This record gives sequence, C-alpha cells and structure tokens, in this order.
Amino acid sequence: GKTILITGVSSGIGARTAELALQLGADVIGVDVRAPAAALSAFIEADLSSPLAITDLVARLPQRFDALCNVAGVSGTLGAAKTLAINFYGLRALSEAVAPRLREGGAVVNVASIAGFGWRANLERTKALVGVQGFPDVDAVVAELGIPKELGYPISKEALLLWTFRAAHQPLFKARTIRVNAVSPGPVETPILREFRSVLGDARVDSDIARVGRAGTAPDIAPAILFLCSDGARWINGANLPVDGGLDASVNAEVL
Ligand code: NAI
Repeated sequence: GKTILITGVSSGIGARTAELALQLGADVIGVDVRAPAAALSAFIEADLSSPLAITDLVARLPQRFDALCNVAGVSGTLGAAKTLAINFYGLRALSEAVAPRLREGGAVVNVASIAGFGWRANLERTKALVGVQGFPDVDAVVAELGIPKELGYPISKEALLLWTFRAAHQPLFKARTIRVNAVSPGPVETPILREFRSVLGDARVDSDIARVGRAGTAPDIAPAILFLCSDGARWINGANLPVDGGLDASVNAEVL
C-alpha cells in the first residue's frame, strides 16, 4: 500500500480524505493543529503557521512516502498574515521540505478554492507573494504589499494556484517526476463554511450554492484529491481541478 501524508486531517475535507484513503488500503499520516476524531496510521500535531513547527514535523516524518495532500486551511478571520502563513507559506515550506522524501512518480495535491480564481485581479501582488522565497516574516510582507484583511483568504489561494503551476516545473519536484496539482472546491458543508458566511455574508454564499443546486460535501471532494495522488493521474501535472458542481463554469460562461 501507499503512504499518504494529509494535513488538515482533523476536520472536514481532510478527515474524509483520510477515511477514504484508509478504506482504499493506504497508510495515512495525519497532521493538524488539533487531534483527529478517527484513528489514523499515525498523527503528528503541528501548527503549519510556524516555520519552527514545520521543521519539527519534518524531523518526525518517515524517510519515504508516496503523496502529500495539503488540505489544512483557514478562512481569513485570523487576519491576512496568519491566513497567508497557514494557507500558503506553511504549505509551501512543508511541500519543499518533504519533496526529497516523495518517491519518484509521487504527488502533491494542494487544496485551493474557487476563491482563488480571481487571481488575475491581484496578479502583481500574487506574484510578489510567491516570489518571496522560504518562510518570510509574513506580517512584514503583508504590510509592504498592503494586503487588507478581507483579501487575505482569496489571495492566499491565488498564490497557492500560481505556486502550483510553477512547482509543477520546479526541478525539486519535476526532476523526480513528482506531480503538483490543485483541487479547487466550491462551497462545501464543513465548519469553515460558517466562517465564510460570516465574512462574505449569507447572500453571497447562498447565491453561489443556488447556481449549482446544492452545497458540496467533504465526500464530494475527497475522491478528486486521491485521484490526483494516484498513478492513474500520472500524466496530470500543474493542473487545477475545480470540484464545485459547475460553479466555476457558470461564472466563466457569463464572462464569455
Ligand atoms: P475545516 O475547517 O473543516 O478543516 C480545516 C482543518 O485545517 C482543521 O482540522 C484545522 O484544525 C486545520 N488547520 C487550521 N489551521 C491549521 C494550522 N495552523 N496547522 C495545522 N492545521 C490547521 O475546513 P475544510 O472545509 O475541511 O477545509 C479544507 C480546505 O478546503 C481548506 O484549505 C479550505 O480553504 C479549502 N476550501 C474549503 C471550502 C469550503 O467551503 N469548505 C471551499 C473552498 C476551499
């Protein structure tokens, strides 16, 4: 069986991804800032907003595994710097640190969001965020680029998508045939959706849901994440797969 590392494993999409991977016979090493409700092959508690915690975490991981699913994320209520630290810089630092331990033909899957599809609107700042190497002083980066609180979440996902496209061609991954892809969910019934409702307003969230008939559920998203981890996706690299009931298509169709 395969060994898959899953962050954000203690709730919502990450928990369901772990459950499905275990059902399919994989070993799952879970990572989260809080303990999971379900049993996993192994669990390591880590705060992915902290570079020190990531170094600690990496030291405790096995020398070889097959895939990394970057599912952990926050809604933006903690402010732009903390949100960027978790949703982008921590995720990237972990991915780059574990890349040498992923077997050839392995995979990284980043959970982005339909919120990141507006990335061309913030392209200059998104490029600047991604251009900063390593794990920076995120407060300083946010101040320098003038990123307001409400932009923290969408621009963290914009940065994640841009990095996904770049990482697919970065020697660290590409030279060892490790594929890097993204899954972008629409609104999904998990605890984070309540926070999106409080930030964006019910009207906005409900109109997105109405466009596609219902909200998604964690079991709608998990199979797409594991497909991109699988050998069946061996020729898929640097792709962003919307899993949103057609929400992205409905927006694109209006633009055309
Ligand atoms: P969730 O809130 O149920 O799960 C998020 C998990 O990430 C939690 O277990 C939490 O403890 C963990 N986490 C938060 N901060 C962390 C940190 N500093 N270090 C380690 N772990 C941390 O939310 P959900 O829906 O499962 O979200 C998973 C991903 O899906 C997130 O990246 C989110 O942005 C993305 N997403 C969710 C959507 C939705 O409507 N639910 C829509 C689009 C994207």
